[in-house]
Amino acid sequence: MPATVLSPDFVNNYLDSHLGERQVNKIQHGFPSPRFWNETSVPLDEIAEDRIRLREAHGTSPVFLYVGVPYCIQTDPGKCGYCLFPVEEFQGNAALETYYGYVEREAEMYREQMQGSVLAGAYFGGGTSNLYKGPVYHRLMDMVRRLFPEISEQADLTLEGIPQLFSREKMQAISDSGMNRISMGVQQVNERLNSFSGRKQTTKHVIQSLEWARELGLSANVDLIFGWPQQTVDTMLEDLETLVSWDVYDITHYELNVGGPTDFALNRFHELPSTLANLEMYRAGRDFLLDRGYQQLSTYNFRRPGDPAAHDFREGYTTRFDHLDTLGLGYAAITFFGNPALASGRSWSFINQRNLAQYKAAVDNGRFPVERGYRHTAEDWLMMLLFRSLISTEIDRTQYAAAFGLDIYDKFATVWDALAERGYARITPERITLTGDGPFYAPMFSALIAEDRYRELREEAARRKKESVRPAAASRSGQ
Ligand SMILES: C[S@@+](CC[C@H](N)C(=O)[O-])C[C@H]1O[C@@H](n2cnc3c(N)ncnc32)[C@H](O)[C@@H]1O
Ligand code: SF4
Repeated sequence: MPATVLSPDFVNNYLDSHLGERQVNKIQHGFPSPRFWNETSVPLDEIAEDRIRLREAHGTSPVFLYVGVPYCIQTDPGKCGYCLFPVEEFQGNAALETYYGYVEREAEMYREQMQGSVLAGAYFGGGTSNLYKGPVYHRLMDMVRRLFPEISEQADLTLEGIPQLFSREKMQAISDSGMNRISMGVQQVNERLNSFSGRKQTTKHVIQSLEWARELGLSANVDLIFGWPQQTVDTMLEDLETLVSWDVYDITHYELNVGGPTDFALNRFHELPSTLANLEMYRAGRDFLLDRGYQQLSTYNFRRPGDPAAHDFREGYTTRFDHLDTLGLGYAAITFFGNPALASGRSWSFINQRNLAQYKAAVDNGRFPVERGYRHTAEDWLMMLLFRSLISTEIDRTQYAAAFGLDIYDKFATVWDALAERGYARITPERITLTGDGPFYAPMFSALIAEDRYRELREEAARRKKESVRPAAASRSGQ
């Protein structure tokens, strides 16, 4: 990689010109962005071999499981007005159960290669996973146990959903099935602001679901979004105050990502708080939660210690380096598989079909329903882990040295020095810690570090496009 581009001047100019821009969180997709995931024939056999080889070399290896659902209930405006995830409109329970049958068949395809792995955690997300009726939660956990006869005692098994779709009966089934946590997408407790998303959600739905979860011994996380149309620091703090007063131990506080043909981007852009107002919201939210005894686990995640039902859960970020294996099952599910011990080019990110008919057709034909993927160089894999660490607000230099044989400070020294000078980071011999507004800007810092590599990837993509056009043009002209 031509590291020269990250000269002190370049770094400082980049920071000066990007500090005032809207932040974009793409961390759940890792690095690089999925628009560079161009490999349509992902070698699942090779990945399976590596999985088995790593397990044999290092003993049991933890796997994190993600299971997706395509469906969401219809809203007006569509997709809750802001959502950028691939989803399909709910077509009724029969279609949902049919879909689920496909997920079970896909899981079977992985059974052999997962033998001997320990399940470190599972997340049933989406889409809207609490659309399932009661008995399906048991089937989901049966599927998990078939795939992973060994489940870590600390495993966090989370079912994600929206408040108005939980019922006492479903919550009982979730708990009885062996899942131990729910995550609720609330976004706004404030009913007026929430109504912009077209969701028929009331405060009562939220409280009631939290009460059922508590009664049944389930941990609970609530997702809120700040930077919402017409939102002010005051309405945001009211929502946080409410959640704190209800003893919600886990609060995920996302900044709104605005984009695509969504209602918020097209029709409510002028109602969005400014970039500076978003920064103020971030600060006020963080200070409020820290003041109430919450710890900041990442840019977005806050946790109050002492939840009797809590397990160790980290969403979208990591502080570990020995191994990363997240198996994604279902429509649009993402798999990350990599290890610094693997040769360059043997670590992967890939996404399952985002077209439901094609997802099903692949499973029907006995093929893994993978749409496209990205083969990581050793350098890409390092950056992928680094950006996850940045979101977790802390980079452990000792762990990087052990895993990659280098000092991560030396590698990007101009960036860390500039961040430290501006009060966004503290550098010690053991670690680099984001400080002040540093965590808020973590996605932008990642984009800065990735600047060189993205340039190379863009050039490679342009070259490939040219090459694919040239033979076609040549054959048209009869050459
Ligand atoms: C993909 S949703 C799935 C869960 C569930 N369907 C729901 O809406 O709560 C998971 C979380 O992503 C977050 N999210 C979705 N779209 C977002 C956006 N444009 N900006 C920021 N966060 C977003 C929301 O907080 C949501 O709770
Ligand atoms: S925010 Fe949740 S419910 Fe709304 S469209 Fe996205 S995934 Fe579905």
